[in-house]
Amino acid sequence: RALLRPGGLWTSLEVVANTGSTNTDLAAARGEEGAVLIAEEQSAGRGRLDRSWTAPARSGLFFSVRLTPGPAVPAERWGWLPLLAGVATATALSRTAGVDTALKWPNDLLVHIGGEERKAGGILAELSGDSAIVGIGLNVSLRAGELPVPTAGSLALAGARTLDRDILLRSVLRSLAEWYQQWRAVGGDPAACRLQEAYAAGCATLGRRVRAELPGGDELTGEAVALDGDGRLVLATDEGARRPVGAGDIVHLRP
Ligand code: BTN
Repeated sequence: RALLRPGGLWTSLEVVANTGSTNTDLAAARGEEGAVLIAEEQSAGRGRLDRSWTAPARSGLFFSVRLTPGPAVPAERWGWLPLLAGVATATALSRTAGVDTALKWPNDLLVHIGGEERKAGGILAELSGDSAIVGIGLNVSLRAGELPVPTAGSLALAGARTLDRDILLRSVLRSLAEWYQQWRAVGGDPAACRLQEAYAAGCATLGRRVRAELPGGDELTGEAVALDGDGRLVLATDEGARRPVGAGDIVHLRP
């Protein structure tokens, strides 16, 4: 695994054969910024909104990184971190695998397979003390019939020009370090580092009719028209209001 050496932002890279969840382990390890934990297999991978993330051993990338933006980035801007990780991953996949990835707000990675958008990856960012633990899961080599759910996708099915997990990981880590350092250098301002623009350009949700399920059980239907400064999705509702929805709300692309 000569490709996976520490350097720059990434202070340590550890590969484990099997664990429950790299997010859980990295949070418990209380290491320094830039620690990276990679699992060949995860037995209790977690997704957003208490969902699980399952994938066969060595079929994809399952890893987490520790980021500690510090006081230079005000707390309300930390919500951009998972979106930043999505942009960084999409940038890397386009560069290294030749795969065009769209972002379903807030942080599902969609690939195009036979004219359909399918989820090939996801991001789970969690706070742990003064750090964010950002976990990325990506289906790499899975073929039809091996998918956790029939509606999922993978880089293999999307025609990626490489399925080498070390090459892909190195590319994602490089892109993530670039985006993160630029974002932190401008105090987390998503417009100043062009993150807001890059996210909007790659976002499959903007411009579409969506249905949002709010935690209280209410629903909103309308068109996703913008992202606000905190990374929330703004809906122009069918009732004529503009309403931001946050990452705790569930957004469906098919109303
Ligand atoms: C989602 O789709 O809701 C997010 C999925 C995130 C999965 C990754 S795999 C590595 C890291 N460890 C976890 O337990 N989850 C993330």
